[in-house]
Amino acid sequence: MTARFDVVVAGAGAAGMMCAIEAGKRGRSVAILERADRAGKKILISGGGRCNFTNLYCRAENFLSSNPHFVKSALARYGPADFVSLVERHGIAYHEKTLGQLFCDRAASQITGLLERECRDAGVRTFFHTNIEEIEKTDEYTVRCATQNFRARSVVIATGGLSIPKMGATAFGYDVARKFGLAIRETRPALVPLTLAAADRARYCDLAGVAMDVTASSGKHSFREKALITHRGLSGPAILQISSYWEPGEAIVLDLAPDGDVTKGLRRPHAARHLQAARAELRTILPQRLADRWIDLNPPRDWTNRGLDEWERGIHRWVLKPQGTEGYEKAEVTAGGVSTGELSAKTMECLRAPGLFFIGEVVDVTGHLGGFNFQWAWSSGFCAGQAV
Ligand code: FDA
Repeated sequence: MTARFDVVVAGAGAAGMMCAIEAGKRGRSVAILERADRAGKKILISGGGRCNFTNLYCRAENFLSSNPHFVKSALARYGPADFVSLVERHGIAYHEKTLGQLFCDRAASQITGLLERECRDAGVRTFFHTNIEEIEKTDEYTVRCATQNFRARSVVIATGGLSIPKMGATAFGYDVARKFGLAIRETRPALVPLTLAAADRARYCDLAGVAMDVTASSGKHSFREKALITHRGLSGPAILQISSYWEPGEAIVLDLAPDGDVTKGLRRPHAARHLQAARAELRTILPQRLADRWIDLNPPRDWTNRGLDEWERGIHRWVLKPQGTEGYEKAEVTAGGVSTGELSAKTMECLRAPGLFFIGEVVDVTGHLGGFNFQWAWSSGFCAGQAV
């Protein structure tokens, strides 16, 4: 059996639903095909169950992509204020947690509820348990599924990235891109905890659970947020952010006292200069267990001003060579993906395959932590929805 629609959207995630809503509002007949048993599973678990649905300070600089300008057009056409007004129209209470990050007051299911209602109002039909196996270009597009086939003039690939395979992530979007001869930027786990090499693990990982305020840097990128020691390495917002920029084999640098001059007290006239005094100073800046471990492993060489200078520098420049990442199992997103060079920045349509669109995480656009990835899903979904 073959069903015909104007538009078939592959994937009922954030991007796919937004696209379907906009296309439906324009009078197109729209089908969303979703292999899972419900829509927006990642939305439901996002933001610790409260969905960090956008960020007030969303700029092109908050995204990684081979073409850093690619996101600008979509963000200009549908930005954070547009999604916030949709959230407000649905009477969903929200708050700014920090750094412009907007979360639902109550539950992430309010966002999936919003999208489902909008889909219904726009006349969108959603087919669950519908795993797309293949897409072929005939005079239109034919979308082959196990139980049923679909035909449409426009097909939108919104099947996401590789992160969290347990939740049903597939490489389908990349397979389609390859089939149509599109370039793909190599994919890698991003916003992901880092693992440490055995020696550093032995030194620090028994402190799992200890969190500290740091500036984490990799190359020219820095993030001032919390870091967390884990059983295998490091996590926490600062580490997740820097993981997106980290290249295997490279070091990251942590400033453990981004605000502070740790040795100021030790340099006062008549101040005691010995291990206990240094330990006390460090404990005012770092959690006690980490302060103690640091001073046990890295005590000042001597108590001269030069010795203190060197010790201070070491605290501001903890150089660590991660062994790797926790991989797609723990990565919030997938970096890389369908090359932006293949797509119109205004519509997300393939330049070489008219009628085929790619939106959301499957595209080589990856946001920082803090609501930027959903904003990209809304913005790219909106743009495709206006064009299909
Ligand atoms: P998404 O992955 O959401 O949807 C793709 C859909 O396609 C899925 O429903 C899948 O089942 C379906 N599919 C795949 N292959 C198929 C096939 N062959 N046939 C049919 N269907 C198929 N971002 C943010 O901005 N704020 C936040 O708070 C968080 N929090 C967060 C927490 C956790 C734990 C994770 C893993 C991720 C986040 N993110 C986030 C990232 C965010 O969830 C992500 O960027 C978006 O969900 C991407 O939306 P997409 O619609 O592109 O893909």
